[in-house]
Amino acid sequence: MEIYDEELGDPTMAIYQRFFAANPDAEDLFGEGGDIYSERRMMTGIFGLLLDLADGTLDPESSAWWVNDHVSWEVTRTMFESMFTCIVDEFRAGLGESWDPQMEADWAEVLARWATVVRVRLDDNGI
Ligand code: HEM
Repeated sequence: MEIYDEELGDPTMAIYQRFFAANPDAEDLFGEGGDIYSERRMMTGIFGLLLDLADGTLDPESSAWWVNDHVSWEVTRTMFESMFTCIVDEFRAGLGESWDPQMEADWAEVLARWATVVRVRLDDNGI
């Protein structure tokens, strides 16, 4: 995250571009045409959660409180899975040759920890 920020700046909009391209129905869930302020706040929250999960400050069990709200807003399982992918895809593509196998492994590990808990919550919601 730090290297991306130094080399390219804020990845937020690039991640949403990937996410909305893969999920054309998702943008209108933020309100017709999207809502840049909620989108930005959400991504800041996502980055905060990922950093806290990565350094162990946050117990994965406490990292999915927001899922039930999202299910009630009709965010689909496909969209959840897609967001995890879009985030790491953007960091990998943005870093280009600076990306290395250790980063790939670290990202996969943190995202898997988060996704495992999120998926249990989605199962509980029957979606
Ligand atoms: C596609 C439709 C989606 C909509 C409309 C939506 C909407 C929102 C909104 C309005 C917030 C609260 C932002 C704030 O004011 O603080 C939020 C937070 C959040 N969203 Fe989404 N979201 C969507 C998809 C997703 C997906 C696919 C993920 C998957 C990772 C996600 C993860 C989060 C997280 C982790 C937060 C909590 C951030 C925090 O409070 O720290 N959202 N979302």
